[in-house]
Amino acid sequence: MTKRTVMITGASRGLGLALVRAFAPEAGLLVLAAREAGHIGEARRAAADCPVHAAGGDLSSREGISRLLSEVGPERLGAVDVLVNNAGWGQPGALADSAEDDVVRTYFTDLIAPALLCRAAAGGMIRRRWGRIVNISSITAVQPSEGLAAYASAKAGLNALTKSLSAETARHGVTVNAIMPGLMLTDMGRDAVAKMGAARTGSGEAEVLERIKRSVPLRKLTEVSEVAALVRWLAGDEAAFLTGQVIGAAGGL
Ligand SMILES: NC(=O)c1ccc[n+]([C@@H]2O[C@H](COP(=O)([O-])OP(=O)(O)OC[C@H]3O[C@@H](n4cnc5c(N)ncnc54)[C@H](OP(=O)(O)O)[C@@H]3O)[C@@H](O)[C@H]2O)c1
Repeated sequence: MTKRTVMITGASRGLGLALVRAFAPEAGLLVLAAREAGHIGEARRAAADCPVHAAGGDLSSREGISRLLSEVGPERLGAVDVLVNNAGWGQPGALADSAEDDVVRTYFTDLIAPALLCRAAAGGMIRRRWGRIVNISSITAVQPSEGLAAYASAKAGLNALTKSLSAETARHGVTVNAIMPGLMLTDMGRDAVAKMGAARTGSGEAEVLERIKRSVPLRKLTEVSEVAALVRWLAGDEAAFLTGQVIGAAGGL
């Protein structure tokens, strides 16, 4: 990993921040993205001595994706060795009751933006005959439940993108894999737990969490540090043999 250029989207908080901590000790440059470059403050501190280029762009629209690509710049994009498509968004709720804009935002953030970022970064990796792409999917992609129609299907699309792209790039030394975490107690995870609690009148956060844990074979939630360590391993030379895989990281679900 030494001196590689690593780009992480959704780097400002949650899993993204854990990814910054995992990559910073060995990366040459961290290209960190969030909706606004100004949101990268905590991640910049977490990166400690590793150089950081912060870039902003709201991935829920085509214009925002273009803004991010131009804030990173074609030269820096061409130099990205490791791309982690981590930014994600979803609004739990029945599809028929969802705002049309929210449905579109979900597909842009969770599927179209990762596809366009893979497209933008893969060329340089192929030319240098070394590259790693890791897409952060969700266990809901293979176990979709009520209230997640757009989010789960966008993540299922991300799984298919991973497999197809990996077949295109494998002979060039570029691996493409995806990880499907289970519930992690980040802002997104806590929001989902709160909504599940609200949907069942009288269920508090502790009760919802207990129910979720009981449904997981390992009886635990997913920790961001566990997923970050797996991404870091997939991005290293040790994982050169592994591509086109969609790996569950959800305690046995
Ligand atoms: N938490 C879970 O239980 C869970 C489970 C399975 C999979 N995942 C997946 O794991 C990944 C990380 O999730 P998390 O739990 O760490 O979420 P989080 O704590 O809510 O953080 C989301 C990150 O994505 C960025 N982001 C959100 N919407 C964006 C947009 N429209 N444009 C650009 N950036 C945007 C945020 O940037 P700002 O700070 O600028 O908003 C933030 O850095 C996501 O892909 C999510 O789908 C999460």
